[in-house]
Amino acid sequence: MRVLGIETSCDETGVAVYDTALAGAAGLRAHAVYSQIALHARYGGVVPELASRDHVRKLLPLIRQTLDQAGLHARDLDGVAYTAGPGLVGALLVGAGVARALAWALDLPALGVHHMEGHLLAPLMEDDPPQAPFVALLVSGGHTQLVAVEQIGRYRLLGQTLDDAAGEAFDKTAKMMGLPYPGGPQLASLAEQGTPGRYRFARPMTDRPGLDFSFSGLKTQVLLAWRDSDQSDATRRDIARGFEDAVVDTLVIKCQRALEAAGSKVLVVAGGVGANQRLRARLHESAARHGGRVCFPRPALCTDNGAMIAFAGALRLQAGQHDDAQVKVTPRWDMATLQALAPAA
Ligand code: KG4
Ligand code: ZN
Repeated sequence: MRVLGIETSCDETGVAVYDTALAGAAGLRAHAVYSQIALHARYGGVVPELASRDHVRKLLPLIRQTLDQAGLHARDLDGVAYTAGPGLVGALLVGAGVARALAWALDLPALGVHHMEGHLLAPLMEDDPPQAPFVALLVSGGHTQLVAVEQIGRYRLLGQTLDDAAGEAFDKTAKMMGLPYPGGPQLASLAEQGTPGRYRFARPMTDRPGLDFSFSGLKTQVLLAWRDSDQSDATRRDIARGFEDAVVDTLVIKCQRALEAAGSKVLVVAGGVGANQRLRARLHESAARHGGRVCFPRPALCTDNGAMIAFAGALRLQAGQHDDAQVKVTPRWDMATLQALAPAA
């Protein structure tokens, strides 16, 4: 089944074609992402109305480009999947409207995908994918969650952030130290050149039981350290390193705890912060130490993209699920309310 995937929940327009007849990484026939970062940078964050308008401009050309890359015509498609939530309502409506119109015109089944389920399933698009049950760490700009995945579609929340998401903490900390939006990846690359141990910050909520996170206090600690420092480039790098080590340590500790609580040895990591090299390395070390396995999508599929939506949509469409023909989005949407994936008939 060849499924067109459309992602427009925030500030990236993503389009892809996934073909379930070709297993693993080969199934991804083509994918393209257009990032709106330059558009929003001068405002220091995403401006929802500008995001919607830019999706309107970019989505159709990107669909044509992706189909060309895959060597396919629209009539070769068997289904359409689009992000129906969570996200910015106007931005979501652009993707949903285009997806629904295409499905109507081509007489194809279409399905609204949960953005976080897209992230969560992205590692399964790689070769030698893990099988459920496993534990997933979802770390993006809007979410930090540990989820027990009993089967595809059945998600039990084990813990989540009580305030800032991990990616949000990266972005806000970067902004405090004068880095342009979105600072997360830049902060991470500065940290690579920083001296470990010169600045040591707390590992929040690791000193008590439980699987929840809190990153806003850490952000304040960094702000105070930065304010009291000489604010030199070297200090910025060292603080970045101290901050990244604190976030990564905290995530690694909580992941191990979650695996033990769920009685699992397999961890799947997804979302933008999953692109962080130190997090990847430290989780690999931890898995090796505990005789477990950790699976990531390739870094380009950690951040928002259409491939994860095409893939998650393809699994559900293949199992016979689809939505009726209305253009409907769900800006706030709890993953625990999703339908379990019925086995293919
Ligand atoms: O999943 P994503 O693209 O969008 C959301 O659904 O939120 O995640 C974006 C987040 C941003 O906060 C960004 O700063 C963070 O992921 N991020 C990183 C890295 N790459 C992206 N954070 C730390 N290290 C990175 N290498
Ligand atoms: Zn995302």
